[in-house]
Amino acid sequence: MKLYSAMLLKAQNEHYAIPHFNINNLEWTKYILEECEANKSPVFLGVSLGAAKYMGGFDVIAGMVNGLIKDLNITIPVMLHLDHANNVEDCKKAYDAGFRSIMIDASRYSLEENIKMTKEVSEYCKDALIEAETGHIGGTEDNLTSEVYYTTIEDSRVFLNNTNIDMYAPALGSVHGIYKGEPKINTQRMQEISTTFNIPLVLHGGSGLPENILKECIKNGVCKINFNTELQLAWNKSVRDFINNNIAVYDPRKIISSGEESLKKQVKTYIGILGSKNKG
Ligand code: G3H
Ligand code: ZN
Repeated sequence: MKLYSAMLLKAQNEHYAIPHFNINNLEWTKYILEECEANKSPVFLGVSLGAAKYMGGFDVIAGMVNGLIKDLNITIPVMLHLDHANNVEDCKKAYDAGFRSIMIDASRYSLEENIKMTKEVSEYCKDALIEAETGHIGGTEDNLTSEVYYTTIEDSRVFLNNTNIDMYAPALGSVHGIYKGEPKINTQRMQEISTTFNIPLVLHGGSGLPENILKECIKNGVCKINFNTELQLAWNKSVRDFINNNIAVYDPRKIISSGEESLKKQVKTYIGILGSKNKG
């Protein structure tokens, strides 16, 4: 068993989910780590390819996260996670830089190609937790928009029988970004996938899903839930209000950190819903 698998198995056995929060910069990373530490919650720090490029690269991010863990005395389990990497090369580079959780997202390709790419990543990133997706999560991520396509039991069977992943993100109706209309998550199929294949499931597009749906997904096998948009909305609102009310302030530290409290509040709310408090 991989060193880090225990974290997922604990969540699976104790019926909670570990939050995955996407990071964008030093401040977000610091706020998320501090709030997770205050709640003793394990956490995945998600880095999309766009965010990695924005922050300078995988080595910068690994250095920043390791430095924060040390300087802030963070004791909870923290998984630095590459999110939705659509190519094998970036997975290898992130692994070499120290990422120990990697999502190879080849869901845009055929199932055969998805299997081939996922296997290549698993073979190279031996010590890392590997996440992969079949079907299509809808909405927008890193400026790419896609339609929802619900994965099937058969696709899941073929995919999981031919790969060796640690967590599985079957697309079952969730979307990235803001939901248009009522979310339609197929929790029945989620349960079927979970009981048939007994693998920790990942729910993408956690933002905008009501508490009862998030909890129902956890009941049906989800062990990790990804949140990005809702944190952005919370931070954005506070910063805009601050700038509007303090037009004379130009210190970037004051402007950026005016979103700290609302971002932390959102993180805490999700930890409460997911049941991950005191699990770290
Ligand atoms: O991989 C990241 C997520 O699935 C985040 O989705 O922005 O809808 O919360 P979200
Ligand atoms: Zn996602």
